[in-house]
Amino acid sequence: MLGFKSIKAALLISMLAFMSLASAQVSAACNLVSTKDGSPLAIKATDKDTPQAKEFLETCINPYTKAYAADPSLIVQKSPKGGKALFGYNGCSGCHGGKLEGVMAPSLRKDGGQGAFDTKWVYAKNATDKGMFETISAGSPGTSGGVMSSWNINLADHVGDGLTNDEILRLVAYIRSEYRGDGEKTWLK
Ligand code: HEC
Repeated sequence: MLGFKSIKAALLISMLAFMSLASAQVSAACNLVSTKDGSPLAIKATDKDTPQAKEFLETCINPYTKAYAADPSLIVQKSPKGGKALFGYNGCSGCHGGKLEGVMAPSLRKDGGQGAFDTKWVYAKNATDKGMFETISAGSPGTSGGVMSSWNINLADHVGDGLTNDEILRLVAYIRSEYRGDGEKTWLK
C-alpha cells in the first residue's frame, strides 16, 4: 500500500517538474512600444527586477492591479511603498493632483473636470496596463497640450532620477484603484 502511494507521489512530482519546464520554455516576452512613436522599447527583465516585474515583462499583465483591488491596504503599504505614496513622493500629484483629479495635466480618475481629457484617456491604449506602463515609462507626444517626460530608469536614454519597472507597475495599480470614469474596467478582467 505504502509502495503504491510513493510511486503515485513520485509520478506527480515528475509531472509537475515537466509542466514547469514546459511553461518556462513557452514563456513569451511582452513587446513594449513607445507611446510617442510606436517604436519598440528596450526594457528587458534583469536580476534586479522583482518577481512581479518579471511576470509583467513576460505576460503584459500587471499583477498589482488585481492585488490592489482585492486588498486595498496594499495601496498605502509603507514598505515597499504602495502606489499612493509613490504618486506623491515622485511629484506625479504636482501635475495630476493629489486626488488624481487633474491640475495642470489630465485627470487620471476620469470623472469630470475642465479639460477634454478629464473624462477619457488621452491615449486609448492607457485603458490597458501595458499601454499605461508604456506611457509612464517612455513619455508621451503631447496630444492633450502638454507632454509627459520618460520615467523608466531602464531606458538607455533616460537621464536623472526615475522609477523602476516595479514602481511603475505599483503606480499603474494605484491609478486603476482611483478610476471613477464610466468606461469598462478592462484591467480587472
Ligand atoms: C510636469 C507635469 C507632470 C508630471 C510630474 C507627471 N505627469 Fe503624467 N502627464 C502629464 C501630462 C501633461 C500628460 C498628458 C500628456 C500628453 O497629452 O501627451 C500626462 C499623462 C499621463 C498619463 C496618461 C493619461 C491619459 O489620460 O492617457 C498617465 C497615466 C500619467 N501621466 C501618469 C503619471 C505618473 C504616474 C506620474 C508620476 C510618476 C506623472 N504622470 C507625472 C504631466 C505630468
